[in-house]
Amino acid sequence: MDLTREQEALLEDGTPAEGKAMELLVALGTIYEADQLIPVSSVHVSGASYAIVGEAGLRFLEDFSSTGRVRVPTSVNPLGMDTVAWKEMGVSSAFADRQALIVAAYRRMGAEETWTCIPYQDGNRPDLGDHIAWAESSAVVFANSMLGARTNREGGPAALASAVTGLTPNYGLHLAVHRKATARVEVEPEISGFEYALLGDHVGRELGTGVPLLAGPQGSEDEWKVFGAALATSSDIDMFHARGVTPEWKEADAEHLPVLRVTDGDLKAAQEELTTARSYGIVAFGCPQLSRGELEYVAELMEASRPEAPVWVFTNRVTAVDAKDAVERIERRGGRVWSDTCPEVMPWPEAGEVGTSSAKAAVYLPRLCGQRVFLGRPED
Ligand code: F3S
Repeated sequence: MDLTREQEALLEDGTPAEGKAMELLVALGTIYEADQLIPVSSVHVSGASYAIVGEAGLRFLEDFSSTGRVRVPTSVNPLGMDTVAWKEMGVSSAFADRQALIVAAYRRMGAEETWTCIPYQDGNRPDLGDHIAWAESSAVVFANSMLGARTNREGGPAALASAVTGLTPNYGLHLAVHRKATARVEVEPEISGFEYALLGDHVGRELGTGVPLLAGPQGSEDEWKVFGAALATSSDIDMFHARGVTPEWKEADAEHLPVLRVTDGDLKAAQEELTTARSYGIVAFGCPQLSRGELEYVAELMEASRPEAPVWVFTNRVTAVDAKDAVERIERRGGRVWSDTCPEVMPWPEAGEVGTSSAKAAVYLPRLCGQRVFLGRPED
């Protein structure tokens, strides 16, 4: 891989964090046969919850942050707790202390303290054609597909390396040739809301990899957001096109693509497959974290009929402030809105049964948090 003189200097004479970052990016670029490192305009990093990164991750971040400073706008995934109301969540002081050290490390590096997995809905929203380096699969698929920005699915350390160098290796979805459709998905039923999550799960399981082009659903931004999160969870797919919706679908279309037909039965089967509990003791909304519009919808539902189980709602602080009215309406009806965190990266006090409308949560709550899941429509 060819490095410019400036890049060579960063590798040889940069701070220890910059040197390590360059080594990592050059190694990645070599593995994937990138021709060069290219500048990025934004970075999104994952790996901020102490429940996920543990002591090893904390030590790495403390070390890296002693000499690493971000060079481009950098947002960071959710923490393991609400930084204000952590005691009410049942989080222990020991956990909160370790989590605070992670926050301090990201602060030293100059990252944005938004603790979000929907950076594109709260301030870090790239434009068509922008090269970026994002971790967090749901955000990656949204950025590539809905915005036409260009990123591979970075791991947390690689994204951090891009943050302190402003660079990423030029391969994969940075190149137009890999953004073409590889399969056409014809969706027979008219779908809305929750069904987008089921569709994402099903298409991911069926195709596994590549770039699907969907024909049929027109969806809202929030519907495609839950579709993409489920798609990236059940597969290695990091980009889709939707006819008449996404910015690159016309150039991406091709003749003689293999066709996947999706029926109503396929969506029902996906729901059954992901359901591991017959009922639930608590409801969790917010995987991905909820947007302002989604918070307003939850408020509407809770005003229409008071839920029988406690309702926990997850978003980030930027959105919670922006949607203050909806947050107050949810809490007036007995719900609880948490910021800075998410249902899969917080330490649940005990195993139980969680009701959710998120197909991604239905995969990770059992795997990461020992929870069984009742997957259903938020309206129910
Ligand atoms: Fe976001 Fe946590 Fe789900 S980071 S996509 S809410 S697992």
